[in-house]
Amino acid sequence: MTTPILAMKNVVKYYGDAPILNGISFALFRGETKIIIGASGSGKSTILKLIMGLDRPDEGQIFVEGEDISKFNERRLVSVRQKIGMVFQESALFDSLTVRENVAYRLYELGVDENEIEGKVRQSLGFVGLEDAIDKMPSELSGGMKRRVALARALIDEPEIMLYDEPTAGLDPVTSKKINELIITLRDIKSVTGVFVTHRMRDAFTLATEYATNGDGQTTFHTEDNFICIANTRFLMLHNGKIIFEGPDEVLRRSKDEYIKRFLA
Ligand SMILES: Nc1ncnc2c1ncn2[C@@H]1O[C@H](COP(=O)(O)OP(=O)(O)OP(=O)(O)O)[C@@H](O)[C@H]1O
Ligand SMILES: [Mg+2]
Repeated sequence: MTTPILAMKNVVKYYGDAPILNGISFALFRGETKIIIGASGSGKSTILKLIMGLDRPDEGQIFVEGEDISKFNERRLVSVRQKIGMVFQESALFDSLTVRENVAYRLYELGVDENEIEGKVRQSLGFVGLEDAIDKMPSELSGGMKRRVALARALIDEPEIMLYDEPTAGLDPVTSKKINELIITLRDIKSVTGVFVTHRMRDAFTLATEYATNGDGQTTFHTEDNFICIANTRFLMLHNGKIIFEGPDEVLRRSKDEYIKRFLA
């Protein structure tokens, strides 16, 4: 039995009197992706914040690469954050810094050599198809470009864990598709473990049914047929602080639960 890369065990989190999360448990192994769905305010972003150690659970444990981070001090949490790339709900770029400086940010913090930084920034921007934007300011970019820069920034030191908080919100279908394909590539070609939060069921089902293969340096995307389940992705649905569904897309789609049926409709 291998250790999960990410896990929560009986996590409870209060903001005020009512628990936002009330006994959340799940585990994710290397290369798997979990899609968290649920109504606005159901605690999706809170789960990501707890994994990043940006807030602490009131009860329960959170394991990152086998270590329970729930009691870590700030110094140890900083090293946990370095293992995780996060794309925030808003792109959250630094407006006064260029694209290069935004993407390089973590490397500056780590004191990486300037020449090495330039190469890594170009590689990361190349992955999201934005090498030409390296000298631009965030204000010169479209919403979709900002989101891709945020993705490049999160990927700069090749984290094994990626957290995505509504990475396609407010974007047109073509740009959303591009971002979904980047996320699928990370999952299937680089075995990155991911948690993907979204409202948009279309993006969620894309991620759960499409997969990437790599041949001759070329990445190709495919859609699973009805009988096999290849995309290494499962859903987790939150409602009233609890997980009310956990499983693959085809089971979610066939759910008889009235709340889930209404949510998907
Ligand atoms: N730092 C905080 N202080 C107080 N309340 C908070 C804090 N963070 C989140 N909450 C509350 O916790 C609940 C869950 O918030 P969260 O951001 O996790 O929801 P969400 O599922 O991501 O919603 P959305 O889909 O709108 O992004 C909300 O009611 C929110 O107001
Ligand atoms: Mg949120």
